[in-house]
Amino acid sequence: MYIESPRYTERFGSVRINDVQRVVALDSGLKSEIPPHGAMGVVKISEETIKSFEDKMAIVVPTRNEKLKLFEGVISGVPHDCLVIVISNSERDHIDRFRMESDTLNQMCRYTHRQALIIHQKDTKVAEAMKQAGYHELLDENGLVRDGKSEGMVIGLLMAKLAGKEYVGFVDADNYFPGSVLEYVRNFAAGFSMAKSPYTMVRILWQYKPKISGGLYFRKWGRVSETTNRCFNSLISSSTGFETNIIKTGNAGEHAMSLKLAELLPYASGYAVEPQELVSIFEQFGGSLPSNYVDVMKHGIDLFQIETRNPHLHEEKGIEHLEDMLLTGLSTIYHSPLCDEETKQLIISQLRSQKALNPRKKPPKPYLNRPPCEVNIREFTKFMEPLLKTYFALHEH
Ligand code: GDP
Ligand code: CO
Repeated sequence: MYIESPRYTERFGSVRINDVQRVVALDSGLKSEIPPHGAMGVVKISEETIKSFEDKMAIVVPTRNEKLKLFEGVISGVPHDCLVIVISNSERDHIDRFRMESDTLNQMCRYTHRQALIIHQKDTKVAEAMKQAGYHELLDENGLVRDGKSEGMVIGLLMAKLAGKEYVGFVDADNYFPGSVLEYVRNFAAGFSMAKSPYTMVRILWQYKPKISGGLYFRKWGRVSETTNRCFNSLISSSTGFETNIIKTGNAGEHAMSLKLAELLPYASGYAVEPQELVSIFEQFGGSLPSNYVDVMKHGIDLFQIETRNPHLHEEKGIEHLEDMLLTGLSTIYHSPLCDEETKQLIISQLRSQKALNPRKKPPKPYLNRPPCEVNIREFTKFMEPLLKTYFALHEH
């Protein structure tokens, strides 16, 4: 594919934040005589390069009671060489939705000769493995993994590591366009291929997010993302002393990381997860607070924000959902030791004016699941390794 070269990079300590890069063309052909850095400002990412990263990548699909057709579409869009890891928290009792998802995945794998993992979030073996690892905050009062997408993401990334992958990407199961999913993963690969550091993250910005209100309107910024990004930029500006609007993907649900970076970050519950990843990167590697990871500081962190060609259309879950998303997202910034008084005021006034926070109330503290590197991953692996094959979609039940 062709993508804009990373022309503008802002530094925050050892974090290199690249400005948005647009996909110029989805495909760049097979002919290799075209120089990789042909035209000014545009990079060609060859098909071999993309495939080589896809081969090292697991795609985690968190799902909870999504329409089966959407789930199936999303799976069909993930490039063949990626290992699909479905972490499902779907119903198993009245209607066994988890069974339906497993069957769908099994069929897809049989038809296309590929493998995939599917794990239920409430699987007792997984809970046991987490206990062995000392990951107690991940468990609920019944000793099973708590509800929530981020808790599912933690299972997913540990399984990706167990399966020997180097990169992990997250793609929601409620996406209407399989073609968009294909593009996200290719964009992840493109970002990784441009990284100089082994610690790298790619966040997706959609070109448009269509809204159906009478006609179809191709909207670029939702209000939640606009506000979240503004507060992020205020946080960075106050630290560096230079006003910036570099952050454009504060809420990006679709994102990917090298496992090396993924292990270093905490995973906040609920909608806080994606903004918290950024906040934690800035805290740990931004240079203004002491870092636990001197070696990582040397390499630096490469952060890419890639704008897709495809529009993004997913299940809309209502206004309350949006308010919750705004509140929990901004809480991560508010409670960061990096957050200055001015940014705090901005957060409070935004939350109040958008009616996401009662007057006189403070944003709640996010619930953090520790970074995987702080628990005993070896114990998790020791426990899960012999069981790994039982989670493959194609294994005989
Ligand atoms: P939004 O897209 O950020 O508005 O949030 P969604 O409600 O669509 O959730 C994002 C993704 O996480 C979807 O694929 C959901 O099905 C999935 N999801 C939501 N809750 C859970 C959960 O408790 N566990 C898992 N594994 N996935 C979840
Ligand atoms: Co969604």
